[in-house]
Amino acid sequence: MRGWACAAALLAVDCGPVPAADYGAELFKDSTLSESQYNTFSCATCHATTASPEPGKLYAGHSLYNSAFRPSYWGGSETRLLDAVNFCYTAFMRGVTPLTPEDPRSRALYEYLVRISPDTQAPALPLTLVKDITDVPRGNAERGADVYRAACQDCHGEVHTGKGRKTELASILPEVAQDYGDLFPGVSPGVVVIEKVRHGRFFGVGGNMPPYSREALSDQDLGALLAYLGL
Ligand code: HEC
Ligand code: HEC
Repeated sequence: MRGWACAAALLAVDCGPVPAADYGAELFKDSTLSESQYNTFSCATCHATTASPEPGKLYAGHSLYNSAFRPSYWGGSETRLLDAVNFCYTAFMRGVTPLTPEDPRSRALYEYLVRISPDTQAPALPLTLVKDITDVPRGNAERGADVYRAACQDCHGEVHTGKGRKTELASILPEVAQDYGDLFPGVSPGVVVIEKVRHGRFFGVGGNMPPYSREALSDQDLGALLAYLGL
């Protein structure tokens, strides 16, 4: 009887050595969830899991605390949690085949997200992606250094050297902008960087960097970041 129940429930709590939610917590931090040899991102690269913001961190994605029962995702464009996850999995983590509902890993991630979702009535969260790019006033460079550390450094590494970056595919900032004058004549390098940050891989830009919505990064912090980068 127990064997049957276990087979049906896959990784349910009282079956295997590892409860499903614990396995999900591991997968959440594991970049090899994606089969792509070029992927170095895990879910934890872009999402907090806490109720209040983590000090010193600005993530591109919303916190997934209370995410399991939100009525919709991605600003209303996804209504199923697994579809919202697969959006990230294929767009950012280079996953070739979306995770299926039958995959034990999907179930484990689900159980983990349920565990960090005490509020089953949690509302959907707003997502304002900035389509039309305009320049922003430059801000305080000291604040910009904090923004760089909180938002960009994990992937891009230290400025000027890229030391510690998560992937060699992430360019060295701000040096990469030196070529922008030739590549994008008539557009200031700062505006090219704004477009990349606001659009990530979307709106025809390409790549696999995530976009920063207005909820994730204010224009004020973006202006401070550009001042710090000297752009
Ligand atoms: C490279 C960054 C990145 C990675 C990696 C990533 N995400 Fe996301 N994710 C985003 C961004 C950006 C959004 C859009 C903003 C938002 O809705 O949170 C998003 C949205 C979501 C949403 C919808 C949240 C909502 O309420 O709108 C869920 C759920 C989600 N991601 C789960 C995951 C899971 C699980 C993984 C790992 C399998 C993952 N993400 C990997 C960046 C990422
Ligand atoms: C989740 C990892 C990640 C984060 C966080 C991230 N980037 Fe990126 N970024 C990348 C990767 C990977 C590339 C190269 C692939 C691409 O273009 O999408 C890239 C490319 C870029 C480029 C384009 C470089 C070129 O080749 O012209 C710019 C500019 C940039 N990032 C700026 C930023 C800034 C500024 C931040 C912080 C606000 C940031 N990125 C945060 C991963 C990231």
